[in-house]
Amino acid sequence: MNVPYKEFKTGARMPSIGLGTFGSDKYTADQIAEAVIGAAEVGYRHFDCAEVYGNERQVGESLETILRSGIDRRDLWVTSKLWNNHHGEDDVIPACERSLRDLRLDYLDLYLIHWPFPNYHAPKVDVSSRDPDARPFIHENYMKTWRQLEILVERGLVRHIGTSNMTVPKLRGVLLEAEIVPAANEMELHPHFQQPELFDFVLANGIVPIGYSPLGSPSRPERDRTPDDSTDVEDPVILRIAESHQITPAAVCIAWAVQRGQVPIPFSVKRSQYEASFNAAVNARLTPAEMTVISGIDRNCRLIKGQVFLWEGAAGWESLWDEPQQGM
Ligand SMILES: NC(=O)c1ccc[n+]([C@@H]2O[C@H](COP(=O)([O-])OP(=O)(O)OC[C@H]3O[C@@H](n4cnc5c(N)ncnc54)[C@H](OP(=O)(O)O)[C@@H]3O)[C@@H](O)[C@H]2O)c1
Repeated sequence: MNVPYKEFKTGARMPSIGLGTFGSDKYTADQIAEAVIGAAEVGYRHFDCAEVYGNERQVGESLETILRSGIDRRDLWVTSKLWNNHHGEDDVIPACERSLRDLRLDYLDLYLIHWPFPNYHAPKVDVSSRDPDARPFIHENYMKTWRQLEILVERGLVRHIGTSNMTVPKLRGVLLEAEIVPAANEMELHPHFQQPELFDFVLANGIVPIGYSPLGSPSRPERDRTPDDSTDVEDPVILRIAESHQITPAAVCIAWAVQRGQVPIPFSVKRSQYEASFNAAVNARLTPAEMTVISGIDRNCRLIKGQVFLWEGAAGWESLWDEPQQGM
């Protein structure tokens, strides 16, 4: 199948669409593990995992099934992520080894620092919950964590390392000091949240942008919703383009993402959905005029604000993103 891909300096190729595996508290680990097998059947070779999704053990069983079915390990791309309570220098390597064990793999294709803020909170807590030990981003500490990721590469446990939920100023500092520079940066990206400055910055620095919530995360938990949020798949521009191509609005979002140059990682446990997204990534072609008109519907509408990661005394969620607080 003619799946577009991103090529790294190592020669490795990341398929330009991956399956997300965070069930938004709505789907069970077993449902997601089943979707991983189904997705491989329709052509997916890229899976976006994380310890905090609480399903790496079940997803690992599916990956083993996929590999046993004859798919070569070298044709799979598996990402996992270091959770916020394992940033300590002694915690990184054991956390990665745990993910490898759960995923039943000898190596990961990509390991990301999930968020640049050390903290701990129990699963499913309300956005008003605060960890008294939560800390802001501190460059020196982040680089100590990063160094441990570099050791994972040196030991062959991980092929590429990267960042997630970063900003231009934070990434600038990392690029100055890293021995192994980030291969990828995972960031929220959908038509109503295009992050043009960060997107251009990562491309200019040879970092692959992986776009999460590419459909605008319509099933995200209540705690991640605010009254100002807008819905990408209901935007009249997206609806009009969908109509003219006879595809769904979701397929337009995926086609736009791949053509723009990011790697979307839509989540679904429904075969009709993940198959449609895969087909859109491989087949749908938007015209230059359609790409231009979609670039004009950006609303700077961040959906995953990260409130729960705030430290005591922080002003508002904007502080996580190095932005002035709204309304100030
Ligand atoms: N690095 C990070 O911090 C971070 C943060 C968030 C997410 N992620 C990753 O990104 C992945 C995707 O993000 P997300 O789940 O927030 O958002 P998303 O992919 O934009 O939305 C997923 C939801 O969209 C619907 N959907 C999926 N495919 C569809 C299709 N073809 N047509 C119509 N509707 C479709 C489904 O809703 P229904 O189930 O209701 O049908 C599905 O649950 C996650 O699973 C995770 O791997 C990473």
